[in-house]
Amino acid sequence: MHVVPLTQLDDIRFASALAVQQRDEAAVDPVTPPITAPELRRYAAHDRTEGNRHERFAVLDGDTARGLVHVELELDEANAHRANIEIFGAARDVAAGAAGLRTGLDLADETGRTLITGWGPRTDGEHAFWTGVGATLAYRERVSALRLDRVDPELMEAWAADGARRASDIEIVRWIDRCPDAHIDAFVEAQMAMNDMPHEGLDINAWDIDADDVREEEATMAALGLRVMTMLAVDLDGRSAAHTRVHVNPTRPAASYQWDTAVVDRHRGRGIGKWIKAAMWRWLREAEPAATRLTTGNAQSNDAMLAINVAMGYEPLIEYGAWQARIDEMRAALSRRGPRSTD
Ligand SMILES: CC(C)(COP(=O)(O)OP(=O)(O)OC[C@H]1O[C@@H](n2cnc3c(N)ncnc32)[C@H](O)[C@@H]1OP(=O)(O)O)[C@@H](O)C(=O)NCCC(=O)NCCS
Repeated sequence: MHVVPLTQLDDIRFASALAVQQRDEAAVDPVTPPITAPELRRYAAHDRTEGNRHERFAVLDGDTARGLVHVELELDEANAHRANIEIFGAARDVAAGAAGLRTGLDLADETGRTLITGWGPRTDGEHAFWTGVGATLAYRERVSALRLDRVDPELMEAWAADGARRASDIEIVRWIDRCPDAHIDAFVEAQMAMNDMPHEGLDINAWDIDADDVREEEATMAALGLRVMTMLAVDLDGRSAAHTRVHVNPTRPAASYQWDTAVVDRHRGRGIGKWIKAAMWRWLREAEPAATRLTTGNAQSNDAMLAINVAMGYEPLIEYGAWQARIDEMRAALSRRGPRSTD
């Protein structure tokens, strides 16, 4: 077996690697059509998003891909100790997973990382793989989906009216793709409020972003072919109160994604979270009728966000896990016995 960057694969091997990811995605969510070849090629070519450098590798056996490794290296200084690794195919093919993991650990070492977080659906196979290499479950995420055409319009009207009444000093502005210069400082502050989401047992520090980071990410999202719809709640001085963002996927509108939602600390508990989510729902129905479904992920312990999402109609699809270990512990476990097989 050998491990090769996705960008270096010929068409036959690329198609084989794509099939590995598609198979895992279909197991997680049988309704949403899985990632397409042009999308995966774009992800492989644009290696910076969301404050991370991304590298993708195929684990090959001849022309056949047995695994696909996605390594995420956090660029933010506060989290320069971390690398996230996701290995498609690892739960089915432990040997391929281990080969992919070794490449991920090499890259993590080269970039000075000390802590590895393995991500994947919280299935028996995935749990066995990551615990077999010395990691422990540190975070649980509920992945849920919402049929936008089944959301109760009267409930959304009520949330919007209640928020507007209780937070009468607030207005909601919106844009597609590029944040207007006039709102960029407020938008940065709103995004920083995402630091308050629960990380459970993960060793993550608060991150810091600025206007340049926002612009860089906008360029990446455009290169990835995603349309980003943003709503920002501001007070009378133009200061930040909240934001929510949806990534609309024009290639597969039913694979659109509810990205961040955050209300800045001083404005929580005033109905702004419900209001801005209701306003986004209405905007999506008007502007993007083909986007019939949204998926999202929330920490299982995020009672405040889950209360809103469950009331809107999000239904659980699967639980994701994040298994954490120091890189030296993972290497030792990998060389000692390799990941346990599930059979
Ligand atoms: C989640 C969040 C956006 C909610 O914003 P908010 O404006 O305070 O929420 P609302 O005032 O609209 O409250 C909505 C409902 O959530 C529930 N809720 C709010 N805070 C809660 C808490 N701490 N625990 C349980 N339920 C809570 C209540 O049922 C409330 O409805 P009610 O006012 O009718 O009782 C906010 O807490 C936040 O920004 N958290 C940090 C960032 C984050 O975790 N984002 C999500 C990442 S996936």
